Amino acid sequence: MADTLVLAVESSCDETAAAVVANGRTVLSNIISSQIALHTLYGGVVPELASRKHIENINPVIEAALREAGVSLAQIDVVAVTNGPGLVGALLVGVAEAKAIAWAAGKPLVGVHHIEGHVCANFLEHPELEPPFLCLIVSGGHTHLAVMKDYGEFEILGRTRDDAAGEALDKVARAVGLGYPGGPKIEKAALSGRPDAIPVPRGKVDDHPYDFSFSGMKSAVLNELNHAAMTGQTLSQADVAASFQQAVIDVLVSHAMRAAQDLGEKRLVLAGGVAANKALRAALEQACRSRGMTLYRPSPVYCTDNAAMIGSAGYYRWKKGRRDRWDLNAVPALQLGE
Ligand code: KG4
Ligand code: ZN
Repeated sequence: MADTLVLAVESSCDETAAAVVANGRTVLSNIISSQIALHTLYGGVVPELASRKHIENINPVIEAALREAGVSLAQIDVVAVTNGPGLVGALLVGVAEAKAIAWAAGKPLVGVHHIEGHVCANFLEHPELEPPFLCLIVSGGHTHLAVMKDYGEFEILGRTRDDAAGEALDKVARAVGLGYPGGPKIEKAALSGRPDAIPVPRGKVDDHPYDFSFSGMKSAVLNELNHAAMTGQTLSQADVAASFQQAVIDVLVSHAMRAAQDLGEKRLVLAGGVAANKALRAALEQACRSRGMTLYRPSPVYCTDNAAMIGSAGYYRWKKGRRDRWDLNAVPALQLGE
């Protein structure tokens, strides 16, 4: 059977990305234009600037994705695009572009949930992986424990009640003067710090063992920083980074292992930008190994935002018959499974 080629577009936050993916599994190209340098000037993502940059970048990024894959638009079978969740102005650029391309080239259009894409990133490198499985999704906007019951079908077991794990890492990074993007800076600084230097509570939600709460953990660190400033002390950035990172990791690992044990799951699938964190990967690897479980996680380039993951999710949505119409819209707060 001929390959099904998906041209995928992703512009939900600060990366403009396009990819060509065959049969939901094989990446033919994966182009990412990062806006990190621009937003670093402001200490975080400025939505209006992100939208403008997407407009500048999107055509060259799509052309590069087709060129690198060695295919023409005529050879593409499906156009997939992230239509939520994310920044509305940023999402709109990708959605408008994908609609225009699909309409002009006479191709089916499929809207994709960004977080479903993050989970599907695992299909790009693990050909044997098929749902159902337990997944831990840790990104800048989401922290979920979920079961992917079938392609595109999720049962949410738990979610964060306040900050997402990535958001909390970003806020602590900013407070301690490490700046944007926080997660990778915390990871680097933590290498030379002591994980037990600063007391950080391990957040939990009473009677909801799969839900997360990172905001109290973050506040504990902010209080330590304020107290140090008022008493004329300086806390080492490395110690703050190592202590907070360890606390976040401990919570993520313990919640995921509890769910795996309760459900009798022998596989755990990790997804989202925070999944790029080496210390988290190592801790989960070790926890899984000691319980005879297998950990699946994408390579770092497929953990953070990219379009190849949208190409995989788009393929499986298309295979199940999903077709969007020309009124497909950006939905900033799109729910998983909606
Ligand atoms: O999935 P993602 O790229 O975008 C969203 O969908 O939100 O996740 C971005 C989040 C940010 O909070 C960023 O600080 C975090 O992922 N992140 C990391 C690392 N790389 C990205 N956190 C910890 N360690 C990393 N290496
Ligand atoms: Zn993301």
